[in-house]
Amino acid sequence: ADALKIGIAGLGTVGASLARILVERREALAATCGRPIEIVAVSARDRTRDRGIDLSRVAWFDDAVALAENSQIDVFVELMGGAGDPAYAAVKTALSRGVHVVTANKALLAAHGVELATIAEERGCLLNYEAAVAGGIPVIKALRESLTGNTVSRVYGIMNGTCNYILTKMEKEGLSFAECLKEAQRLGYAEADPAFDIEGNDTAHKLSILTTLAFGNKIAADDIYLEGISNISIDDIRAAADLGYRIKLLGVAQRTDTGIEQRVHPTMVPIESEIAQVDGVTNAVAIESDILGELLMVGPGAGGNATASAVLGDIADIAKSRPGAQMVPVLGRPAATLEPFKRAQ
Ligand code: NDP
Ligand code: HSE
Repeated sequence: ADALKIGIAGLGTVGASLARILVERREALAATCGRPIEIVAVSARDRTRDRGIDLSRVAWFDDAVALAENSQIDVFVELMGGAGDPAYAAVKTALSRGVHVVTANKALLAAHGVELATIAEERGCLLNYEAAVAGGIPVIKALRESLTGNTVSRVYGIMNGTCNYILTKMEKEGLSFAECLKEAQRLGYAEADPAFDIEGNDTAHKLSILTTLAFGNKIAADDIYLEGISNISIDDIRAAADLGYRIKLLGVAQRTDTGIEQRVHPTMVPIESEIAQVDGVTNAVAIESDILGELLMVGPGAGGNATASAVLGDIADIAKSRPGAQMVPVLGRPAATLEPFKRAQ
């Protein structure tokens, strides 16, 4: 069968891991997907940086939009980050040309997800974004596919690996906030601007995507009550422990009689609860729905391999020509007709 030709824009923590896995597991992936997956073009800022992979036979683009315009590629994989250009322009360009897109960029989806999903639907191509929420945990698949027919009442959880890593390390090793953040950055967990992690914006971006999938509302990250962890001290963590609680940064979205309540803030959770046991970079997402009941998914929430695993799953779905481009296929309606977000009173 013909190879699926992919272009990767962004060769940082996630992009370099993905490229390495695609090269190292080429044969196994071809067998699983029924066709080879071939990297034909890449884009990043610095051509001279060693990425730990041989890119000598791959076309290099300084401009990610030019890569998205390249007629060679079947799939454009966006791993640069950021809600604005070049990520926005490049993804829009690819979809407008009918080229499938895989992205891990939650900031982009929180800002432009419905518009981009609408273009994908109109052009008959796929916009896959499993890695955008909770790293390697298949939460998008759960909401888009597995829970079809369920009415979701609540989605909540630990959705930022950097914050959970910081809170865990402060508690267990007594290290300062600044030391823990530096380590999370070194390990590749943090956003390019870590303020997005510690001030809660990244969790809000992810939560707004889950809200749209779960409740069928237009993405509304700006309507989320937002409080990060930058003011949490070791004393706060110890005081909570004395009372039988641990502090976790939670994102919560729930249906109420007056609309959808969305909030992100540090939360005291009882020490014996399952979510309190979730440590380090691990994420946990709980989905409460009427047919299934409560589903709790726990797993690696950030880092090169964990995230690349989800991106790879999205690429494999395209290689196998699996459907699923709609933002909310569970509701059987295209993205353009999603209801406006109604904040709970
Ligand atoms: P990095 O900062 O490590 O890598 C970003 C890459 O994009 C770099 O290769 C950089 O080039 C390239 N890049 C940045 N700006 C441009 C530009 N203007 N034109 C071309 N290339 C550009 O980010 P991550 O790999 O950590 O994250 C990538 C995406 O994945 C983001 O959307 C992030 O939110 C998301 N994500 C990250 C996770 C993680 O654990 N790291 C987990 C889940 C999602 P150069 O290398 O030359 O500087
Ligand atoms: N910075 C993010 C986090 C990456 O720490 O969770 C995964 O989305």
